[in-house]
Amino acid sequence: MEIELRINGSAQRLDAPPQLSLLDALREHLDLTGTKKGCDQGACGACTVLADGERINSCLALAVQYTGREITTIEGVDHPLQEAFVRHDGFQCGYCTPGQICSAIGMLAEHKEGAPSAATEHLADPGGELDDLEIRERMSGNLCRCGAYNGIVAAIKEVAK
Ligand code: FES
Ligand code: FES
Repeated sequence: MEIELRINGSAQRLDAPPQLSLLDALREHLDLTGTKKGCDQGACGACTVLADGERINSCLALAVQYTGREITTIEGVDHPLQEAFVRHDGFQCGYCTPGQICSAIGMLAEHKEGAPSAATEHLADPGGELDDLEIRERMSGNLCRCGAYNGIVAAIKEVAK
């Protein structure tokens, strides 16, 4: 079937089976290989992209479901988080980094809107300043096998301020 997508501000059309995941559409059909495939089953966050600013696991999304939505991949990101990750050594091999950055952008927007998280249930002011615990909880869907978590948290904390 013909699938129309809007990726990083450009219209894209591909001829693909209806069961094609958004992740495979990006990587295999559109040459956007910045978005990574880790587990391909929603467990690692390496495939995180933004759909109308909301973070999603693209391995769990059917491409056809995202017709008419604005998809942003790491190739379309221009955000202070990118330099902050470099400054704080927020990566080693870099495989998880595109997903971490897309997820952090979505997470900061969620936090700004006052969306609660498990780490904030006990807080009187869940929209208050992000501390390490809350960043870790809100980013818990993004795994880093290199263990660069301290740098990731530091980079996000700096940008959140
Ligand atoms: Fe999508 Fe792991 S590849 S969550
Ligand atoms: Fe290697 Fe995160 S930097 S998996």
